[in-house]
Amino acid sequence: MLYHILAVGDVVMEPGLEHLERHLRSLKKLKKIDFTVVNGENASGVGLTQEQAWRIYDAGADAVTLGNHTFGKMQIRSLLDEAPWLLRPANYTGRAPGRGCGVFDLGAVRIRVVNLIGRCDLAWGTENPFTTADALLRADKADFTLVDFHAEATSEKLAMGYYLDGRVSALWGTHTHVPTADERVMPKGTGYLTDLGMTGSVESVLGIRPEQSVESFLGGLPGRYQSPEGPCKMQGAVFTLDSATGLCTAVERVDIR
Ligand code: FE2
Repeated sequence: MLYHILAVGDVVMEPGLEHLERHLRSLKKLKKIDFTVVNGENASGVGLTQEQAWRIYDAGADAVTLGNHTFGKMQIRSLLDEAPWLLRPANYTGRAPGRGCGVFDLGAVRIRVVNLIGRCDLAWGTENPFTTADALLRADKADFTLVDFHAEATSEKLAMGYYLDGRVSALWGTHTHVPTADERVMPKGTGYLTDLGMTGSVESVLGIRPEQSVESFLGGLPGRYQSPEGPCKMQGAVFTLDSATGLCTAVERVDIR
C-alpha cells in the first residue's frame, strides 16, 4: 500500500506560521497526505515558544522537528519532555532535554521520525550524526523511517543520504531555507532532497527583512530579527512510500504561494 508523507521546510516567524495555518490542511487534502512533518525551529526567528509549537501541531503537523535553534526560547524545554510529537536533534548529547526520535502508530503502519543535526559549520558540540543514526535504526522497528537532517553543508546532507540509502524511507535536509532541485529516489530506494526550503515571507533573506541581513553583512548591527510584510510561501516535498518495501517510489517538491 502506498503512503504519502509531507515534509514542510522551516517555518519562519509570524508570516510563516499564519501561512502554514492557512494552507497546510488543504495541501494535505489535495495530496492525500497520511503523515506530516514540519520543521519549526524558526517560528520565533530564533527558536520557538510552546504556543508556537502548539500552533504548528494544531495546523496539521503530526511531528515537529527542530535544529540549531532548539533552545533559542528556553521555555520550550518542558514541552520537549512532555510532547511526543516535538523532536530535537537526536545527536544532541544526553544532557539535553527531550528526544530526537519518535515512533507514531498509524494503525496499519508505524512511522519512525528521526531529527539529526549536522556538524559542518553548525553544531560542533554534538555526537556524530552518522553513528547516531546507526544506533537509532538498531533500536526500534518501524515500517517507515523519516529523517530530517538539519544541516548547513550540502556535502554532509548528501553523504548522509548515501549512508542511509536503503535503510530509511525518506531523508530530507532543512536549515538553509533555500530549496534544492535534487529530489530523487536514491539507488537503494530512499527518497531524498537536500533542502526543503522554508515557510515564510517571499521577499526576505531566509525569512527575515532583507535590510537587516544586508546591514549585518556590511558589518553593522542588524537588530532583533523582523519578518517582512507581504506574500508568503510554504515549501516542502511529498514522498510516496510503499509499505511492502518500506522504501520510496516518488518524490515531488511543493511550493504553495
Ligand atoms: Fe537552523
